[in-house]
Amino acid sequence: MLLLLLLTNAFVLLPWAGAGRIIGGSEVKPHSRPYMAHLEIKNNSQTGYCGGFLIRPDTVLSAAHCVDIEGTVRVTVILGAHDVTRQERSQQKIRVGQWVIHPEYSPDDLKNDIVLLKLKTLAKINDNVQCISIARRNEHLREGALCRVSGWGLTSDKGNRSNVLREVKLQVQKEKICQQRSSDYQRQSMICVGDECSKKASYQGDSGGPLVCKKKAHGIVSHGYDDHLFPEVFTRISYFEPWIREQLRRFALQDIPCSPSSD
Ligand SMILES: *[C@@H]1O[C@H](CO)[C@@H](O)[C@H](O)[C@H]1NC(C)=O
Ligand SMILES: *[C@@H]1O[C@H](CO)[C@@H](O)[C@H](O)[C@H]1NC(C)=O
Repeated sequence: MLLLLLLTNAFVLLPWAGAGRIIGGSEVKPHSRPYMAHLEIKNNSQTGYCGGFLIRPDTVLSAAHCVDIEGTVRVTVILGAHDVTRQERSQQKIRVGQWVIHPEYSPDDLKNDIVLLKLKTLAKINDNVQCISIARRNEHLREGALCRVSGWGLTSDKGNRSNVLREVKLQVQKEKICQQRSSDYQRQSMICVGDECSKKASYQGDSGGPLVCKKKAHGIVSHGYDDHLFPEVFTRISYFEPWIREQLRRFALQDIPCSPSSD
């Protein structure tokens, strides 16, 4: 069974084994990951939380499964946050106007788990809010590479989220490890990541956050298997780069008649 790494009110009531948080990680220096976005996803009956990351002043990248819920869905992004329970002066809270889920996203096996969120107003770029570059098409991520993933995911098996941004270092694993775990694993569009001792991991609430290797976003937190912390599957950004660029161009074209709120 797939383990979604998003977090909703419904989910925290479930008795998850293998308690989660950015497991084995630590709190980051405030605002040292200025590309991080905290997502609040609401319909009329529940609220979910995910991570995301700013790739342009008007666009946040995240996991499709974060926004793929029923009903009238409202998504809000908080940029420049460290402690999301506080109203920090650095925070920019921006509504998402529209989003584009990958047309071949499939909720059953989480293939193509990627979404672009178009912000209603442009983020103001400053010390606390900045974009991150994404991996280019065919940019190779070698096995054994050490990358970082950050998030506000669960901090305990009692189901509490972390108020502050935490980060963990994880290693890119052999494709074979994920292929053996699931026949749904696709090497071209997914990255197999984890800590073999299962002492470190991303977890529920961390979905949508970036896997950052050498200052570039290479992956998006997507899912794990059963209640295991190892291995984890990330969406491989380099594979989707042409699609992302195409969507960004579409967003840019839409901006020509410029909405009054986008200054
Ligand atoms: C909100 O989303 C959840 C998950 O998809 C769904 O079970 C629930 O019915 C939705 N609520 C409404 C009011 O649509
Ligand atoms: C989780 O949060 C609740 C409410 O704030 C608190 O009462 C509880 O002690 C927390 N649990 C843990 C394990 O931190």
